[in-house]
Amino acid sequence: MTFIAQDEINRIRSNASIVDVISSYIPLTQKGKNYFGVCPFHEDHSPSMSVSEEKQIYKCFSCGATGNVFTFVENYLNLSFAESVELIASKVGISLSTPLQKKKESKFKEEYALMDFTLKLYQNNLNTEEGQKAIAYLKKRGLLEDTIKDFSIGLSLDKNMLYTILRKKEYSEKTMEDLGLINKGKEDVYDVFQNRIMFPIHNLEGQVVGFTARCYLKEETPKYLNTKETYIFKKGNILFNYHRAKDAIRLQKEVVIVEGNMDAIRLYSVGIKNVIALMGTSLTKEQIEAIKKLRSKVILMLDNDNAGETATLAIGNTLEENKISFSIVRLSGEKDPDEYIIQNGCDAMLENIKNAISFVDFKLNYFKKNKNLNEANDLAEYIKAVIDGLKNTTDAILKEVTLQKLAKDYNISYAVLKEQLGEKEIERKEKQELKVVKEKKESQSSYDKVCSKILFYMMNAKEYVKLYQTKLGIFPTKDHRVIANEIIYYLENHKTINLADFISYAENTNVKNEIMAIISNEKDMNITEDGMMELLSIIKKKIKKEEIKKLKEEIKSEYDINKKMALLEKIAELKKGNEFE
Ligand code: CTP
Ligand code: MN
Repeated sequence: MTFIAQDEINRIRSNASIVDVISSYIPLTQKGKNYFGVCPFHEDHSPSMSVSEEKQIYKCFSCGATGNVFTFVENYLNLSFAESVELIASKVGISLSTPLQKKKESKFKEEYALMDFTLKLYQNNLNTEEGQKAIAYLKKRGLLEDTIKDFSIGLSLDKNMLYTILRKKEYSEKTMEDLGLINKGKEDVYDVFQNRIMFPIHNLEGQVVGFTARCYLKEETPKYLNTKETYIFKKGNILFNYHRAKDAIRLQKEVVIVEGNMDAIRLYSVGIKNVIALMGTSLTKEQIEAIKKLRSKVILMLDNDNAGETATLAIGNTLEENKISFSIVRLSGEKDPDEYIIQNGCDAMLENIKNAISFVDFKLNYFKKNKNLNEANDLAEYIKAVIDGLKNTTDAILKEVTLQKLAKDYNISYAVLKEQLGEKEIERKEKQELKVVKEKKESQSSYDKVCSKILFYMMNAKEYVKLYQTKLGIFPTKDHRVIANEIIYYLENHKTINLADFISYAENTNVKNEIMAIISNEKDMNITEDGMMELLSIIKKKIKKEEIKKLKEEIKSEYDINKKMALLEKIAELKKGNEFE
């Protein structure tokens, strides 16, 4: 959420040149009216991103990334929208009327304050007598005082100690319950976390949104108790340590991904600060987006057990599908990165990271498991699995080397392997093409396309909004109507509209993604009044057709002959009527 006034945002934007700003990060060359460069938002080598000085927007024709000068730096430097406005303002020599810090009011102000207070309380508990035992436990695990502080580790105490204090501070009981801190029994209220070491979990922006709590007095099940899903704690949106690590990650262009919180804490505490931990073993769409935003190579280093190995294959596939470049570390000896470092030290860990292997090499090993490669059947299965695993690889040299290695190691004709891989690749391509065709059909009916185009026109100039209002009035479909209303609302407030400014406005609407998708899908930037009129008439005709259909239905179920006549007349009227008069 930004709290910078829209007019101020627009003023800053109109003082900036998108070509100047983008070319300060990536080289652009001019071709005709537009500028072109290699898109930084997907893996590419050809200049598929075009930047329009006239429209003040950029657009990648390969991955669809689009936006204005703010969204460019927002995504390129991984800033919040407000920070991106602040940055551009400073570039063009405008100072914000109110500095950003003061604007960082949050929608969940009370919730974050409550979580912060709770965190401090847990940290304070380390100073109690119980705290001494907890500190002894942490020390035994080799965590230094600095690390305990860096990660704001704390301790929960007996019964309803947290509840009692929060009540005294007049925090709302409902909020406590909603945030997963207390449970209400029939008669009493008690703390969810009792006598556990408390590790705070932050969201990607760095606010405390939940806890993972480890038993320490004796082994208990569960070993870790986590905050339930709440409206600020969504496990699928979180990567442990992300906010702390992101600067180090961007600097090194590399991020180590581990399984457990303790693994991340350990790596970080010995100086490997570019580390984040999964909270569970599959990656959600949101987490993938967050990882992509880091624009760094991933080192996937999961636990050294079967589960960790299986998860490596699954997550590897997900990373590959999402075109994130990565390699893999499989540790040997100790059960996880935490224990590996305790036993072997930081240098040994760094050596492992340096020698990370490719996904293909991982699979060469992985598929051998439980197979006797001296047996013809097992060997055939193995070779097929490896070849299948190669079909998504874009690295032609890696493919070639792997095939040759297979041929040599198992004495199989290289030509046969090559042919087999070729078939797999065709299969994959066909499947993919089928999927694309299907998705296109499902997501974009021709009606949808026309509505999107109309909306796109409207974002570009006031005249088109007026045409929509006078000639069509309203979209029959709600999704399109909602976006049209946003455009009209914007125009009413600003008296004028253009694409670049509307993009800034879209940032704070509930339909941001839908709006950006419309802009991204629009291939033809040339808009004319005739074009708009034609689009409107298509929709108008469709509405009319629907109306006639409805009237015909009514006629069928109408017995009164006069009413029937009236309906027929209505239909005739509709059929006669010109689209636009
Ligand atoms: N986990 C969890 N609930 C459990 C067990 C594990 O949420 N009952 C999550 C935690 O985030 C944990 C991760 O899964 O960090 C990995 O589990 P595990 O390897 O068992 O934890 P370790 O990091 O090895 O924990 P520790 O070293 O403290 O025993
Ligand atoms: Mn461990």
